[in-house]
Amino acid sequence: MKSYRIAVIAGDGIGQEVIPAGIEVLKIAAAGGGFACEFTPLPWGCDFYLKHGRMMDPDGVEQLMAFDAIYLGAIGDPRVSDAVSARELILPLRQKLLQYVNLRPMRLLPGISSPLANRTAADIDMICVRENSEGEYCGIGGRLHAGTPNELAEQTGVFTRMGIERIARYAFTLAAGRPRKMLASATKSNALQHVMVFWDEVVGGVAKEFPQVEYRKYHVDAMAARMITHPQTLDVIVASNLFGDILTDIGSAISGSLGVAPGGNINPERMTPSMFEPIHGSAPDIAGKGIANPIAAIWAGAMMLDHLGERGAHDKILSAIERVIGDASVRTPDLGGRATTADMTRAVTAALTDSEATKGTKPK
Ligand code: NAI
Ligand code: MG
Repeated sequence: MKSYRIAVIAGDGIGQEVIPAGIEVLKIAAAGGGFACEFTPLPWGCDFYLKHGRMMDPDGVEQLMAFDAIYLGAIGDPRVSDAVSARELILPLRQKLLQYVNLRPMRLLPGISSPLANRTAADIDMICVRENSEGEYCGIGGRLHAGTPNELAEQTGVFTRMGIERIARYAFTLAAGRPRKMLASATKSNALQHVMVFWDEVVGGVAKEFPQVEYRKYHVDAMAARMITHPQTLDVIVASNLFGDILTDIGSAISGSLGVAPGGNINPERMTPSMFEPIHGSAPDIAGKGIANPIAAIWAGAMMLDHLGERGAHDKILSAIERVIGDASVRTPDLGGRATTADMTRAVTAALTDSEATKGTKPK
């Protein structure tokens, strides 16, 4: 039987609650799909930092190379500066593991009401391909003359032809395989006249390889507004690291809750393990209460199976999620209900088991 080695970094706060929920669902999906997942927990994160003075083992990246994929919860704790927790774990992993695509579906699932009035599932179905390895988050810069009136800080954005080309090509390929075949590029070439003019030139060049895809560019501020006023006009979005980070928070907000939005950090060439995570953080305000919505983590787990080549298992988990959300009887507080993480997980596993029992009949 095929078996996948999965490194699990549940991390901090609600990461410790939603990742076990996701694993429960993944195990059932694996059993139904005739494959196995072997989960190896790694204790990295802020608790680890408070004990050892580092966010992960010094050879963390080498350890991770032995796995087929990484399943990550969330990293962040009020006792540790976010600059430390993000910069010493998530960002280095994305960079060192060459996960240059950050893939974030933004869908309004049938049954959830969007904060946008009168929008239904048909209106909000986008996916963002965010550059994940360079750009504004490359980490180059510094501070000088700290604490003096001359103090200064400088942060450099780095854009390379190779980096833009490969993210654009991934995004166009994705768009070409979707029914609407549309790609919108987020730019700001009016104000960032060096890097964003370069971005436009390189993306425009790749566009010529994909005549079947309808390509448009929007300034990122206009795109942010468009996601609110005309979400139905957007399909695939390609964006730099910073722009994609911000736009996907809008995308998850209009999809009803951060608690349902998944993401993948992907190395398309499969030279390194890719990493799948809910896009939300550790939610210290609700951590430990057992009420975190596990859907984002479960959906991220499904994306991981898809990446590993188990499309069928991905589709089954997605339809189980859709059935539970569509039914509306079991909802965590972020979706206006009173259910717990465990209730919601149980509902998804029941829907999944049910679909296994009635193989061949398509769930609604
Ligand atoms: P957050 O995503 O943790 O929480 C924002 C709001 O959404 C909170 O009110 C929270 O309760 C709610 N929320 C998030 N996920 C939810 C879920 N699954 N179910 C129900 N409600 C949910 O963002 P915040 O508060 O800005 O950051 C908290 C910590 O997480 C910080 O340390 C931050 O650096 C870190 N963080 C980590 C990320 C990661 O690991 N990739 C991403 C974003 C933030
Ligand atoms: Mg973000």
